[in-house]
Amino acid sequence: MDKNLIVTCALPYANGDIHLGHMLEHIQADIWVRFQKMQGKSCYFICADDTHGAPVMLKAEQLGISPETMIARVYNEHTADLKEFGISYDNYYTTNSPESKELVYDIFKKLKDNNKIATKVINQLYDETKEMFLPDRFVKGTCPKCKAIDQYGDNCEVCGATYAPTELIDAYSAVSGSKPVIRQSEHYFFKLSECTEFLSEWINSGLQSEAKNKMKEWLESGLQDWDISRDAPYFGFQIPETDNKYFYVWLDAPVGYMSSLMNYCKNNNLDFYSLWNSDTTEIYHFLGKDILYFHALFWPSVLKNSGYKTPDGLFVHGFLTINGQKMSKSRGTFITAKQFVESGLSTTYYRYYIASKLGSKIEDIDFSLDDFVARVNSELVGKFINIASRSSGFLSKQFGNKLSNVTNSALLSKITAAQSVIAQHYQEREYAKLIKIIMQLVNEINIYVDETKPWLLARDEAKSSELHETCSTLINAFRYISIYLKPIVPEIVAQIETFLNIKQLQWSDLDTNLGEHTINNYTHLATRIEQKMVDKLIEANKPEITETTNAVTSQYEPIAPEITIDDFSKLDLRVAKIVAANHVEGADKLIQLTLDIGIEQRNIFAGIKKAYDPASLVGKHTVMIANLAPRKMKFGISQGMVLAASFEDKDSGIYVLEPHDGAKPGMRIR
Ligand code: MSP
Ligand code: ZN
Repeated sequence: MDKNLIVTCALPYANGDIHLGHMLEHIQADIWVRFQKMQGKSCYFICADDTHGAPVMLKAEQLGISPETMIARVYNEHTADLKEFGISYDNYYTTNSPESKELVYDIFKKLKDNNKIATKVINQLYDETKEMFLPDRFVKGTCPKCKAIDQYGDNCEVCGATYAPTELIDAYSAVSGSKPVIRQSEHYFFKLSECTEFLSEWINSGLQSEAKNKMKEWLESGLQDWDISRDAPYFGFQIPETDNKYFYVWLDAPVGYMSSLMNYCKNNNLDFYSLWNSDTTEIYHFLGKDILYFHALFWPSVLKNSGYKTPDGLFVHGFLTINGQKMSKSRGTFITAKQFVESGLSTTYYRYYIASKLGSKIEDIDFSLDDFVARVNSELVGKFINIASRSSGFLSKQFGNKLSNVTNSALLSKITAAQSVIAQHYQEREYAKLIKIIMQLVNEINIYVDETKPWLLARDEAKSSELHETCSTLINAFRYISIYLKPIVPEIVAQIETFLNIKQLQWSDLDTNLGEHTINNYTHLATRIEQKMVDKLIEANKPEITETTNAVTSQYEPIAPEITIDDFSKLDLRVAKIVAANHVEGADKLIQLTLDIGIEQRNIFAGIKKAYDPASLVGKHTVMIANLAPRKMKFGISQGMVLAASFEDKDSGIYVLEPHDGAKPGMRIR
């Protein structure tokens, strides 16, 4: 019986845009799936939006719409983005579906029947201002293990430790900023602690060595039971026979893999249960290293204990950085799929570039814009597409686009001989390696053109059949390379299929050549990347003013880029005494100040009228920057600046700095 493959990507959260980091994963999986399908394998490529949980609920609340409205909106955006990048899901669904509910209830019942569910009263952090229990991600504080500040309540991004939010030091609510209190609540637990034996066995099936090592660490340090319930208010599936408990989003999220497939089965007259559970089915999950824990511990254990087939492999990837930097809004390196498309850059080229850097290891990958432009222009456009444009003109002018039958070509033999190693690299997700091999072949094809010199052959009628043979060889070579590259750049290859006047290329087409086939006239296939598109992308990503965290918009501006002590000492900050303060006629924001800084007096216009009555300032000490270039204003010259504190929006007040008692005018701040 033929094998069936079920292939998934991690389900993107429905509270944010798909960005280039997500896209790395979808592209990695899409290439693998397209390769499988080109080989004639039966493969179901499945994904969905991950719609439940507190972040979605709070984000919708912030937008003033229902969670259902928000997730419907986001669904449309996500599917449009995926389409733009050529991601060929057989089904992209949602976890907020009847199928999900049915499966989650079924799994929960089976876990209960198998005595794998326990209830326990736990202490949890409660936000009294917001009147809700705080999900782990909405508590922040200092890591109990390594003491890194500002870590989330579930795990530390610095040392990787996992802990309970109640263990955080100096915890605060990220929803309201208030200090949470401890409250009791009854929770449901999945008895993960009883799964150690099963997991020790399971890790031998299809894990990368790095993932396996991580698993061993986790298993050795001992498994805790897993809290799978949350209190209302929560957006998710209610736990049966309770009135205010919901399933934790991470319980129903991976079930979304199944429910999306179930929905596909319904629409295509297939039986979901026999497909998922069949011995001849293999289940593979593509995911990022940040969510390995959920997929390697909880997910297989839940499946095992509810009687479902467990995954055959996890394909874990590292993170995308942009120009060497972590993706972050404040650094201007957070590029959404939509922004990329709007810049006019080709998504196919992004696929090519990402593939050219991807291997099977869990390594971070850098999207370097300069390197992207250089590689695409030289390899894909310059060398590959060029093969077609260098040969097609002669074929149309002299041979009516009809090829000659090339029977004995060392070049073509060499190209097709690479097929098994290239196939193996595809299978093992070693895309960078296979692109290297393909580009070496492309180089050889171009050397063949340089050596046979078709443009010279074309001038000599006696060499007509030689010219015909050369150009036909080139078109056959171009077709083979197109087969090799098809999983990576399907959009370009679709155009090539039209140009070559052939049906959809399959892997098995490597075993045939075109014979005396007639092709179409060459039409433009690919354009070089222009610098202005890249500039546009960078421009669209200039750092935003406020950093948005997972779901709540923060009033705190991101910390500015690091400086050295030398940078700081360039600022000459002085204690100043305000000797006079006056309104400025015609200015609605400014107060005019006369400041005594010991050596001299300065005239300064300060934008603090909204916050201060001039008279109240006279006689007070403050701090000014004394070596700022003077600025000519409508009302006179401002010889420096007074320091004042405010949030970005200034709505919550402006506060002029004042040194402690005893500071004298002219003292330097150091
Ligand atoms: N909703 C969960 C997954 C549930 S799966 C049952 C989630 N969503 S996510 O939107 O945060 O991330 C989706 C996938 O994108 C994850 O595999 C994650 O690792 C990946 N990536 C998110 N940012 C990424 C990069 N910067 N680089 C590469 N992959 C990234 O987690
Ligand atoms: Zn830590």
